[in-house]
Amino acid sequence: MPQQMVQEQDETLIDPISEDPAREDTESKVAIWGHPIHAMSVAFPVALTFCVFGADALYWWTGDPFWARAGVWAAGTAFLFGLAAGVSGTVELLWVPGIRAHAASWTHFAIAVVLLAVLGLNWGWRLGGYETAVLPWGILISAFSVIMVIATGWHGGKLVFDYRLGTSKGSA
Ligand code: HEM
Repeated sequence: MPQQMVQEQDETLIDPISEDPAREDTESKVAIWGHPIHAMSVAFPVALTFCVFGADALYWWTGDPFWARAGVWAAGTAFLFGLAAGVSGTVELLWVPGIRAHAASWTHFAIAVVLLAVLGLNWGWRLGGYETAVLPWGILISAFSVIMVIATGWHGGKLVFDYRLGTSKGSA
């Protein structure tokens, strides 16, 4: 290929986002002494999402209404803690230039919003009668929530461990 054509092709391949120096500015701003609040708060909705599925399975197995009541509480707290974690993540996303510049952050946002919608549905569905809600739809929504929370958490981990988003540059 002639030299001029190679040069022209190289110029068209420049990605303005990856060239942006602000892309390197990824340190968490929504943090307590450098510890990102989002990373600290996601453990609660993740664990509670698994708890709803566990409570549903135990209700199905034992028929004990205790588990249906535990399920409605776990579903409500999973949703509310999920919203709180989502707020801290969204502020981070909009505020930190380097996090905003990574496409993967927006993918994580999209997956997380679907998760929050499913968690909200799971809670709302149970408010009309927590025992009758469990079988079959409650447990099916819970199973889907578990799949979604695994996807969201795994992808969030990629942001931190692959792209080093939210991490302190001093430790790099
Ligand atoms: C709804 C909007 C959300 C946005 C915009 C968002 C954004 C982010 C960002 C920017 C990070 C990188 C670390 C940081 O800067 O704090 C992250 C990490 C993470 N996110 Fe989210 N997130 C959202 C919701 C969620 C939800 C609902 C969950 C799970 C329930 C979740 C799970 C995670 C996990 C597990 C990590 C990795 C934390 C670590 O390993 O230290 N995120 N998220």
